Amino acid sequence: MAAALRLFFALWPQAEVRAALEAASRRMGKVCGGRPTRPENLHLTLVFLGKVEPARMQAVHAAAKDVAVPAFQLTLRELGYWPRQRIAWIAPVDPPRALFDLVRALNTGLAARGFLLDERPYLPHLTLLRQARCRGQAPKGEDIVWPISAFVLVCSTLRHEGVSYEQLAAWPLVPG
Ligand code: 2AM
Repeated sequence: MAAALRLFFALWPQAEVRAALEAASRRMGKVCGGRPTRPENLHLTLVFLGKVEPARMQAVHAAAKDVAVPAFQLTLRELGYWPRQRIAWIAPVDPPRALFDLVRALNTGLAARGFLLDERPYLPHLTLLRQARCRGQAPKGEDIVWPISAFVLVCSTLRHEGVSYEQLAAWPLVPG
């Protein structure tokens, strides 16, 4: 029998946004230390599914296909730190309703198909550093404007060298 896959839905940055995120990560690393997320792994999680049996993949795809949310834009600015998890992050400032609509649409479609999801409030963020210990505030950079026109389904695999993410599928948002 094929093994279960560790899945999540996410927004994945294009090259320029990724470069700006790397710069933010470097600034933050100076005051926080820690282990930076590899540039190719930088993302914003929408919904974390956890382990999914291969037989349930069709249901995951069906939930994503039903989503009809307009394209939107995020402005990444806020740098922060969760000391308990030792995660340093960047977050969108005043995220538009469409982001929460997208998360809600996915959660609703998945719940209707029997998936049990995280009930904690959704806190949009991109993890920049793990095992961080921030001493003071990182200097803010320019706002990072991130146009979002699609979301992706990602499989996470823990390897010897660290986590690796594979994009399994992408769905477009409704063009604005
Ligand atoms: P993090 O970056 O804050 O750790 C892949 O693991 C992605 O899913 C990461 O962005 C991670 O968030 C998020 N994630 C991992 N475990 C999760 C959980 N139990 N609930 C919600 N999100 C989770």
